[in-house]
Amino acid sequence: MSEPKSTNITFHGAIVTPEEREATVGQKGAVVWLTGLSASGKSTIARRAEQLLLERGHTAYVLDGDNIRFGLNKDLGFSPADRTENIRRIGEVAKLFADACVITITAFISPYRADRDSVRAITPAGTFFEAYVEASVEVCEGRDPKGLYKKARAGQIPEFTGISAPYEEPLSAEMVIKTADRTVDECAMQILEELAAKGVIKL
Ligand code: ADX
Repeated sequence: MSEPKSTNITFHGAIVTPEEREATVGQKGAVVWLTGLSASGKSTIARRAEQLLLERGHTAYVLDGDNIRFGLNKDLGFSPADRTENIRRIGEVAKLFADACVITITAFISPYRADRDSVRAITPAGTFFEAYVEASVEVCEGRDPKGLYKKARAGQIPEFTGISAPYEEPLSAEMVIKTADRTVDECAMQILEELAAKGVIKL
């Protein structure tokens, strides 16, 4: 749905400019959109990157798939339409956080390219960084920290990403974080280094 259902609504802008807000808060906002299979390492890397950023005096916040599904998105399951709505809502939330100058790290499988592109399309140019957390199905299944791949193979979880539901790899992600043979710290620091290279933070 591209048009709001509501009528008689008016968009109100802020009195302060984005530049004034950045100057006061002391940093630029950004969205680091992690995407990848379940057990690829998204949440773990996101949490460590958040910690590293906070330690350096930045305001950072993680929006995490499993957690958001306990609250805001508790009405959504894993059908293609529900996943699209999941990502649409989180995209809007991430956009608001970034607008408030928070470095926002999202950790959602977000399996559909079109959904990720839709989030990119609503964020200001140069503030959205797609980060492919890359690990093969074999590697993720070998880790299986939640035992979900085992259940999916046994037919107990329908539409499980990578097994019985698709995952569309990014074609031109701003960051590619390979997790198979690297430590959590290496992967998390890569995010900080790439944010520095893109001028969002100084290291
Ligand atoms: S997304 O596809 O809509 O982006 P999201 O990241 O919110 O997914 O949630 C994925 C998490 O939900 C997984 O890490 C896993 O713990 C859990 N999960 C439960 N059922 C499924 C399923 N069918 N496919 C993928 N993940 C599932």
